[in-house]
Amino acid sequence: MFFRCSLAGILLGVLLFNGCGAARKWEYELMSVETYSSDESLMKIDVRVERVDRGVYGVTGSVNWNYDTSDETMVQASVFKSNSGDESDYKSLPWAIPAQSLYEHMNTYYKDVSMKNFKHCSNVPQFEGKFQPPLPKQIYSGDKCVINCDGLPDIVPPGFYKIIMKCSGPGQPTWNATVISKVTTKMF
Ligand SMILES: *[C@@H]1O[C@H](CO)[C@@H](O)[C@H](O)[C@H]1NC(C)=O
Repeated sequence: MFFRCSLAGILLGVLLFNGCGAARKWEYELMSVETYSSDESLMKIDVRVERVDRGVYGVTGSVNWNYDTSDETMVQASVFKSNSGDESDYKSLPWAIPAQSLYEHMNTYYKDVSMKNFKHCSNVPQFEGKFQPPLPKQIYSGDKCVINCDGLPDIVPPGFYKIIMKCSGPGQPTWNATVISKVTTKMF
């Protein structure tokens, strides 16, 4: 479940969920976000972490989505964990989103999680019923997005988590994003 919010975030170029519910026994801090695009004239991702409040960080940024998506646009995500934070220590976790079409993604993870969580702080697409392709070409931006992660487990083992998301399609730019976050046990 952890990755769902993240994938959500990437679509926007935004993420972080520091403001999770009271029952949660863990806290989350965004360490870094790195992005790559094979063609910035078609897909430009520009995100940064911003302090919103004491111990709370949100993400501000924009994604200039300037290409036409198709039925063949695919997204996927994988998650790795490291106890120490050392690069060599990251191990693959079974939490992942296997390659799926972007439109399928829009009708599932996106609609269930991202669309709601980012509504208050961004202009990500909002829709009812089924997503009507294609994804509108425009600049999607978010301002200090701290999302509340409904649907995340109460317990997440502490450590460093690396989430890698990738998107590509035939004749389309390839882009990816790597997010590293640190999970700690909540102090009461
Ligand atoms: C992102 O894509 C580029 C180009 O294909 C690749 O060199 C890079 O390793 C990718 N990043 C990740 C984290 O997979």
